[in-house]
Amino acid sequence: MKFAIIGTGVMGRGWITQCAMTGHAVHCFDTNAEMLAGTPAACEQLAGKVAKKFKIEDPEFGRKTFQNIKTYADKAAFMQTAKDCDVFLEVIFEDLKLKCAVLSELLPQLPDKVVFWSNTSSLDIDMMGAAGGRPERSIVTHGMNPVPLMPGVEVVPGAKTSAETVAFTRNTLLEMKKAPFLAPNIPGFWVNRLLVPQMLDAVRLLEQGKIKVEDGDIGLNTSLGHPQGTFKLHDFVTTPTMLRVALEMYQASNDPRLYPPLLLMRMVKNGEFGASSGKGFYDWSDPRNPKARDLSRYVVGAAEDMTGQLK
Ligand SMILES: NC(=O)c1ccc[n+]([C@@H]2O[C@H](COP(=O)([O-])OP(=O)(O)OC[C@H]3O[C@@H](n4cnc5c(N)ncnc54)[C@H](O)[C@@H]3O)[C@@H](O)[C@H]2O)c1
Repeated sequence: MKFAIIGTGVMGRGWITQCAMTGHAVHCFDTNAEMLAGTPAACEQLAGKVAKKFKIEDPEFGRKTFQNIKTYADKAAFMQTAKDCDVFLEVIFEDLKLKCAVLSELLPQLPDKVVFWSNTSSLDIDMMGAAGGRPERSIVTHGMNPVPLMPGVEVVPGAKTSAETVAFTRNTLLEMKKAPFLAPNIPGFWVNRLLVPQMLDAVRLLEQGKIKVEDGDIGLNTSLGHPQGTFKLHDFVTTPTMLRVALEMYQASNDPRLYPPLLLMRMVKNGEFGASSGKGFYDWSDPRNPKARDLSRYVVGAAEDMTGQLK
């Protein structure tokens, strides 16, 4: 099959690798020329990790994956090749207005038969389906990070998504060795509806000085079996993406628990994006041995603890 993928960041690269290593041709585009240029090599490296984890003996696995990937710095050339793709997958920033603007520009250029997948982690597929002008063939395929190592894919049909699109998507994902499951079209779907409020609560407790990064993660790891705990997970998701997801879910639900904590905003403002930027809740100077940071300068305390100071 042929995939056209727009967005080659953390998740775009995961999907590109997944598609390419399962034998599909992948054509991709990103407005950030640097991200785009680094994509094939990053995907080859990711395929190497997959080969190691799943004990794939083929020494050519990484190179074969690399060969299935083609990048386009020119949007018009990308859209030209996308015309005979089977699936058009968007993996750009978590921003509903941006996604809808991009889809309303690009999807009408493609033949009707092309199926549209969105890797959004929280946004309304009905809005995106309408913006792209093909609601029957629009569906969310929310992969988990890193896509080639985490089997789960949340499949979210919209109100107008056809049964054929659901069946095609499920079968294609199964053939790609993914584990698709159906989830509702509500802000955050199933996984993030549960996970995001919990992650934001963790940041708020840190902000109030009630918990430290290391204790928080050790606690979740040793008590609930969460492999990374919550703060390390923030660092892999990246703080800008967490901020965007929280804000979009808040705007869609008005749930105050989803309003992004100040600490998260400050980290984004200071360029503390997480593992990829070298600093987040952990210091990643040595990526094999991340060190929990002392974030006490960000601690504002809790409102109830401050009332004593109002006298
Ligand atoms: N990070 C995660 O753990 C995670 C997990 C699941 C789902 N998601 C979802 O995946 C999507 C992408 O997230 P990410 O973490 O890969 O973000 P990212 O910031 O790593 O990458 C996004 C990419 O999109 C590109 N982009 C932005 N606007 C564009 C445009 N108009 N045209 C072309 N390219 C454009 C950017 O240059 C960037 O390279 C979001 O919808 C996010 O919610 C993220």
